[in-house]
Amino acid sequence: MARTLITGGLVVTASDELHVDVLVDGGKVVALATHGSHGWTADHVIDATGKYVIPGGVDAHTHMEMPFGGTTASDTFETGTRAAAWGGTTTVVDFAIQPKGGSLREGLDAWHEKAEGRCAIDYAFHMIMSDVDESSLKEMDRLVELGVTSFKLFTAYPGVFLSDDGQILRAMQRAGSNGGLVMTHAENGLAIDVLVEQALARGERDPRHHGEVRKALLEAEATHRVIKLSQVAGAPVYVVHVSAREAVAELARARDEGLPVFGETCPQYLFLSTDNLAEPGFEGAKYVCSTPLRPADHQEALWRGLRTNDLQVVSTDHCPFCFKGQKEMGLEDFSKIPNGLPGVENRMDLLHQAVVDGRIDRRRWIDIACATPARMFGLYPRKGTIAPGADADIVVYDPHAEQTLSAATHHMNVDYSAYEGRKVTGRAETVLSRGVPVIADRAYVGHAGHGTYLPRGLCQYTN
Ligand code: URP
Ligand code: ZN
Ligand code: ZN
Ligand code: ZN
Repeated sequence: MARTLITGGLVVTASDELHVDVLVDGGKVVALATHGSHGWTADHVIDATGKYVIPGGVDAHTHMEMPFGGTTASDTFETGTRAAAWGGTTTVVDFAIQPKGGSLREGLDAWHEKAEGRCAIDYAFHMIMSDVDESSLKEMDRLVELGVTSFKLFTAYPGVFLSDDGQILRAMQRAGSNGGLVMTHAENGLAIDVLVEQALARGERDPRHHGEVRKALLEAEATHRVIKLSQVAGAPVYVVHVSAREAVAELARARDEGLPVFGETCPQYLFLSTDNLAEPGFEGAKYVCSTPLRPADHQEALWRGLRTNDLQVVSTDHCPFCFKGQKEMGLEDFSKIPNGLPGVENRMDLLHQAVVDGRIDRRRWIDIACATPARMFGLYPRKGTIAPGADADIVVYDPHAEQTLSAATHHMNVDYSAYEGRKVTGRAETVLSRGVPVIADRAYVGHAGHGTYLPRGLCQYTN
């Protein structure tokens, strides 16, 4: 396997900024040394002068080809992982789904079938539990052994994914004993369904109402509830796609008490708002996801949470549906718009823009986008950092490149961009996955099947 030397760049990890060259051999980082201080030779030399050399992004929340809302997310594992690579992400953790009435193992096997041989970058799975009962609870132990060490439970979507509080408590207790991590979608789905019905009865049918019925208070309530359940179970909890400032406050309060409670937010909540949901015509449908976008004044609490570490991770919740034919399923009724936004390609750049804007510093960018998701989900230090022994998942990032995000130029298999026309500074120029170029000087040189499945260890993150 080729030796590669990356020279002249500024290596940025969650903990350090070092003017060093990086030597890659056998798909691993083997050494770092100050520019010009070594006599290393290599088959390939990448000149990173004036660039950042960063760990490949770890997106811990994607839904490639997920069947949802009467349709299927439009990125396959092939197109979605390719788009991720274009955006500087080299690992995704996707969600396998337990079929209702079926086993966790059936769900896992089905997701392996979809992903195997098709991914451009490495991938792993969480497990969505659709049916918590004696048998699926027992199966959790086996999944942990197989490297599926996290389980998503929902307080939302009655009749689809919703688990009741007793089921969530049992799953948390089981995770407490087998080392797994319970992730929760925290919204009060039963109350939301009442508000949906009432809104529709009043003739409120356009996308804006999606945001209005899925109230911030109902996110806060469910967040509070899952935190208390986790406390009773004596197990940690990771709350996904946090969007409401009231939910951040619940997490902060619990963390101040020392509880192992973690939170993730997503770029859409940091950069978009209910103003987008209210765009004229049916345009707002492009922004329908759950938890929903919030009024713009919630964003400050999310940024603050990321700075204070009350929120630890930014993932995308990439779940794209085309505007034509898919989002349009809800033309007459907002509750029929499939929920989810595209974004796997944009996360690293949007967060870099936050560095440019002075919201977070460079190391925090790498922390929330690479290192902590890797630690949280048992992939560290193989993923999420640049250090001897780590996989050579490395991005040469040009911090000065200007780009305009657009569906016309993105690589996700979806007919719109949630960030259409937005200018950002910074771009992944070259992307290595285990030392192998996937993107080289802004050209795709990877292939479906390069990406391998990553059995994960246990969560390595403590408060
Ligand atoms: O709207 C969303 N978030 N769609 C994906 C499913 C989920 O709840 O994460
Ligand atoms: Zn330098
Ligand atoms: Zn969710
Ligand atoms: Zn999701």
